Amino acid sequence: MRETNSASEPQVGPRGDDDIGACVAALAAVHAKDGYPINWPSDPGRWLAGGPDAAAWVAQWGGRVVGHVMLVRPGADDVAPTLVGAGAEVAVVSRLFVDPAARGHRIGAALLDRAAREAERMGARAVLDVVATDTAAVALYERLGWEFLASAQQEWGPGELVDVRCYAAPPE
Ligand SMILES: CC(C)(COP(=O)(O)OP(=O)(O)OC[C@H]1O[C@@H](n2cnc3c(N)ncnc32)[C@H](O)[C@@H]1OP(=O)(O)O)[C@@H](O)C(=O)NCCC(=O)NCCS
Repeated sequence: MRETNSASEPQVGPRGDDDIGACVAALAAVHAKDGYPINWPSDPGRWLAGGPDAAAWVAQWGGRVVGHVMLVRPGADDVAPTLVGAGAEVAVVSRLFVDPAARGHRIGAALLDRAAREAERMGARAVLDVVATDTAAVALYERLGWEFLASAQQEWGPGELVDVRCYAAPPE
């Protein structure tokens, strides 16, 4: 899917503050269907908003927000940034999801591409950790040629280990 001006086609653009409510509604549908995120945040609007350095985009389709992606600086718990070459600039893709009712229209691919292009523009390589059981997301990254870096475990709480797979955007 490409960004387009046609009203009937999904369009990807920067997330506005007033998109957060619609993003939370879509996220609730995703959580109900796929269990993503595994732990429903106590304040989902804040969870989606990210920090001051976050850049975020939404996909709109049929007059409503149906997808979301964010690009953030590496955090202490992110594994993928530690797996690319020493000194390499990286940016982390985060909070990627598409409303179950809008799946299979290349919206996830368009959102991911938008985030990866922004990372490139910043002189960084986009990387991400994905929970291994998020099979649709894993299929998406593999299909788009993202480089599998490694499998790892993340500690999400006392005694709560989660298997993740780490990817980097295709080399230029
Ligand atoms: C992953 C997700 C964003 C994909 O959204 P989408 O808009 O349906 O994906 P696309 O239509 O862009 O799919 C692009 C390609 O990915 C692959 N793919 C996507 N979903 C798939 C699935 N369920 N099974 C197999 N392959 C899949 C396909 O190869 C597809 O291309 P093709 O249809 O031409 O073969 C969506 O399933 C989702 O929101 N999942 C739950 C949230 C999540 O796990 N997020 C990951 C956070 S790291």
